[in-house]
Amino acid sequence: MNILEHIRQELPWLDGNTVYDLTRGKPAPEQLDITQRYCSDLTIPYEMDGIDLRNYGNPEGLPSARMLGSSILKTNFEETHALDNSSLTLMHQIISCAFFLGFKKSKLSSDSKIICPVPGYDRHFKLIENFGVEMITVPFQKDGPDLDAIEDLLSKESNVHGIVCVPRHSNPTGHTFSDDNVQQLFELLVPLKDNFSVFWDNAYACHDIDETIQQTPADQIAKRLGLEDNLFQVGSTSKITLAGSGISFISSSTENLSKFIDFRNAITPGPNKMNQGMHVKYFESVSIEQQMNELKKIIKPKFELVDDILKPLKDSGLCSYEKPTGGYFYSIDSAKSNADEIVQNCSDLGLRLLPVGSCFPYGKDPDKKNIRLAPTFPDLASLERCVSIFKNVLKYLN
Ligand SMILES: Cc1ncc(COP(=O)(O)O)c(C=O)c1O
Repeated sequence: MNILEHIRQELPWLDGNTVYDLTRGKPAPEQLDITQRYCSDLTIPYEMDGIDLRNYGNPEGLPSARMLGSSILKTNFEETHALDNSSLTLMHQIISCAFFLGFKKSKLSSDSKIICPVPGYDRHFKLIENFGVEMITVPFQKDGPDLDAIEDLLSKESNVHGIVCVPRHSNPTGHTFSDDNVQQLFELLVPLKDNFSVFWDNAYACHDIDETIQQTPADQIAKRLGLEDNLFQVGSTSKITLAGSGISFISSSTENLSKFIDFRNAITPGPNKMNQGMHVKYFESVSIEQQMNELKKIIKPKFELVDDILKPLKDSGLCSYEKPTGGYFYSIDSAKSNADEIVQNCSDLGLRLLPVGSCFPYGKDPDKKNIRLAPTFPDLASLERCVSIFKNVLKYLN
C-alpha cells in the first residue's frame, strides 16, 4: 500500500470530493457575522467632524478615523493618517513613492536591497519583487529578526535601503519583537539613516489570543535615535472588522506624510470617508477590546486544536513550530527537506496548502522545510480534518 492508500484507510471520511483549504489567512464567516450584527444597529453617517463624508477631499482621512488608527497602532494623532481598505495597498504606495519621488530619507531604486526576515508574508515579497528591488533574507531569533545576521549583512552589502517587519504575531512565524530587539535593530540602522526605510507592518497589532509581551511603540524608539523620518508604520481594520472593507492607517513623520499626500493626490481625489465614518460609529458602540475578545473566542479554539493535533509530532521530533500567541498563522518546519512532498501528498488527499517557498522571497525556501498553515477560515470540524490530513502525511513521510 502506498502512503495515500494508508491514509485513506486511517481517515475513512476522505471522500475524494471535499476540498479542504488552509492556504489564506481569511477571517471565518462567524467572525464577520460579529461585525455585521453590530453594524445592523448603526445609522449611516453622512457628516462627521464637520466634514461632508459624501464628497471628495480630506486626503489625510477623517480626524475621528485617524484617532481610531492612532489608538490601534499606538501612534500620535498628527502622525497618523486614515485611508482606504488594505494596508497592503498602502505599503505598495509607500514603496512607489520612495521609488519614484523619494521621501526625505528614503529613496529606492533598482539598485536598492531590502532586508527580509524569513519566513515572512508572501505578498510583501511579491510586492517588492515587482519593483525589481533585491531582497536579502535573514532568519529570526527568538524575540525578533536575527541581529547578528543583520549586522553581518550590513558589513558586507552596499545599497541596503530598507527592512520589512511584522512586529507583532509576525506572518507566519508568530514572532513578537521585544523592545530590546527593536532598540538594537534600530541602533544598527542609525549609520544608514540618510537613506533607509523601515516598513513596519503592524497588521496584528491587537490580535493577541494568549498572553503576549507589551511593546513600546516603535516610533518612540525611532525618535530617540533620530530615525523618525525612516519609519513607515501601517495597519488596518481588515482582521478586526470586515476583511476587504476595512480602513487602513499609515504613520510616519509629518514631513513624510505630506509628501505621501502629494503622491496620493494623483492616485485618488480622497479616501472613502463614508466607510471611515461607519468605522468610527462602530467603535463608539463596541470597544476595540470587546471586538477583539469576541473574535478571540472564535479563533483561540482553532489555534488550540492545531496544537493538540500536531504536538505529538513535534514532541517526537518530526516537525518543529512555536505555538503562536496571536495573529493568523502557524509556521511548521518539517524535520526533513521534504515540504514539497508533504504539500503534494496533502493536495492528493484534498487539502490545499500554500506552495512551498511562498513565505520566502522569490518563492525559494532554501531548506525546503517550511509550510504555512492558516487555520482561521474553516469551522472547527473542518479544521480538525484539515490538520489530521496534514499530520498523517507528515507522520508517514518523516
Ligand atoms: C502581515 C500582513 N500585512 C497585511 C495583510 C493584509 O492586510 P490588509 O487587508 O490591510 O491589506 C496581511 C494579511 O494577511 C498580513 O498578514
